[in-house]
Order: sequence, then C-alpha cells, then structure tokens
Amino acid sequence: MSETIQIEQIFPSLTWRIRQQAMYPEKEITDMELADDFEGTHFGLYFNHELTAVVSLFVKDGIAQFRKMAVLPSKQGNGLGKLLLKYVIDYCNQQPVQLLWCNARTSAIGFYTKIGFVTEGVPYQRNQLEYIKMQLIF
Ligand SMILES: CC(C)(COP(=O)(O)OP(=O)(O)OC[C@H]1O[C@@H](n2cnc3c(N)ncnc32)[C@H](O)[C@@H]1OP(=O)(O)O)[C@@H](O)C(=O)NCCC(=O)NCCS
Repeated sequence: MSETIQIEQIFPSLTWRIRQQAMYPEKEITDMELADDFEGTHFGLYFNHELTAVVSLFVKDGIAQFRKMAVLPSKQGNGLGKLLLKYVIDYCNQQPVQLLWCNARTSAIGFYTKIGFVTEGVPYQRNQLEYIKMQLIF
C-alpha cells in the first residue's frame, strides 16, 4: 500500500499531543498550550492519515516566528519535519514576510541549517535546555 502525506492548517489544540510527545515527554498535555496559540496559524502533517508533525506560526509586521516544531518520536528522521517546514516557508513566501525565525534547540541546529536557516547571536539557556535564534531571510 502506498504512503500518503498531507499538510493542512489545523486547530491549535491538535498540536498539543505532538508537542508533548516530541518535546516535553516529562510534562502533561495540559501544559502544552501557548498563551497566544489562538493568534497563530498551526500546520499539521498527516502521514497515512495520522497527525504526525506540527508547527505553529506567528506573523506580525512582516516578521514570522515559528514555534514548537515537533515530529512524533517514532516518525523522526524520515524527512517529515523537513517537508513540513518547507511548506511553512512556501506559505511565508505567499505572505508579505521578510524574515522567518525561531528559537531553536541547539540539538536541532543541523536540521534547520540544512533547510537554509542561519544562527543569529549566541546560545542561551532556558529551562535547562540550550537554544539559539535561527533565521531565514526572504
Ligand atoms: C528536530 C525535528 C523537528 C526534525 O524533524 P525530522 O522529521 O526528525 O527531521 P528530517 O527527517 O526531516 O530531517 C531532515 C534533515 O535534517 C537532519 N536532521 C534532523 N534532525 C536533526 C538534528 N537534530 N540534528 C542535525 N540534523 C538533523 C536529517 O538528518 C536530515 O538530513 P538529510 O536531509 O541530509 O537526510 C524532529 O526530530 C523533532 O521533533 N525532534 C524533537 C523536538 C525538537 O527538537 N524540535 C525542535 C525544537 S527547536
């Protein structure tokens, strides 16, 4: 049977389970909501009709930030994160967006670099994790 991949905009709360499993397995799903979730645009990748990867985009004054890029642990390393982020880049290309950025976990720098993002500034710590700002200029 052939594999199917579909990407679409999703309701904010649908992101929470994937965020929790991929990024915060030690936390509760009820902790996954962002205060501004309802101001964002949320994208979900369905692999064989199962929601498998999510990312949330917040655009203001031509600057876009994506947050909580997450792929289900059992499906990581199969190119799905790259497909989803490229979709978001295409979406930004259709908007008046000059810059797309994120606070990247330094453990994921290689992932973002392969898609064309560059680091900006120096790494910093938050909640026992190390992050660095990464950006893509359009
Ligand atoms: C980071 C994450 C989103 C990447 O998604 P993914 O589907 O696993 O990655 P892909 O399979 O699309 O990888 C695309 C490329 O990036 C590389 N890559 C993926 N994760 C990487 C990492 N953490 N470090 C370095 N390179 C990485 C892959 O090897 C692949 O390289 P290739 O194109 O040469 O084959 C996903 O692994 C994840 O959810 N991790 C846990 C949560 C997390 O860290 N989120 C990011 C927070 S900023």
